[in-house]
Amino acid sequence: MRKKIAAGNWKMNTTVEEGLKLASEVIHMAQDELITDVSVIMAVPFTHLVAVKKLIGSSSNVLLAAQNCHQAASGAFTGEISAEMLKAIGVNCVILGHSERREYYKESFTLLEEKLQAVLQNEMTPIFCCGEKLDVRQSNGQFDLVKEQLAASLFSLSPEDFSKLIIAYEPVWAIGTGVNASDDQAQEMHHFIRKVISQKYGSGIANEVSVLYGGSVKASNAKDLFSCADVDGGLIGGASLDSRGFVDIAKSF
Ligand code: 13P
Repeated sequence: MRKKIAAGNWKMNTTVEEGLKLASEVIHMAQDELITDVSVIMAVPFTHLVAVKKLIGSSSNVLLAAQNCHQAASGAFTGEISAEMLKAIGVNCVILGHSERREYYKESFTLLEEKLQAVLQNEMTPIFCCGEKLDVRQSNGQFDLVKEQLAASLFSLSPEDFSKLIIAYEPVWAIGTGVNASDDQAQEMHHFIRKVISQKYGSGIANEVSVLYGGSVKASNAKDLFSCADVDGGLIGGASLDSRGFVDIAKSF
């Protein structure tokens, strides 16, 4: 179901001690200040998951996410974490296809397809990221690329599984740069994403899937971005490391 979501991607930041302080502040502010139909997601480092889950407890509007997982159920994959392990500690969502993983770890369309299956089989919600680099936008190739990213990794899913996804459009040129996509650019791409989904799965599913915008979201631009018709919230990097700023973003619907 289409939801209003503020998701924080902490990336490789904070020690456990720092992370628990941040998470605790976010949880309390979310409980006290947020309207009921907004969900907050915190995608924390693997080392923090168990402890942050404890802090979240039964809080109804805060969910826990991992930032990655391995595609296999178990086995000789030194250093990796499976979807099953994440499920077992109460993780709700897993970010997949972030541009940093596509770029630095060469995650392919096919690999992401396998990871999606692993996450769905373990009844967690994939937060699937897509988005173009600057050179692609400069040559107006962003629509073809995003369509390819969606089709290649997601379109083998059944309609039922597809409807469980959260999608995040994160133009790479806007990530960590302080330069966010304009409201028009975000709305144009989010509308396009729904059109591509509609062509494959029908308008019912296209209108129900939550599509988040990511890339230099902060409290000062969130209201305008979130008021775009096809933008259901944000995937927030840097600004999610400050509890006050992050919850202010979550209050921008
Ligand atoms: P910033 O909000 O720091 O630009 O990062 C966005 C992002 O990559 C979230 O996944």
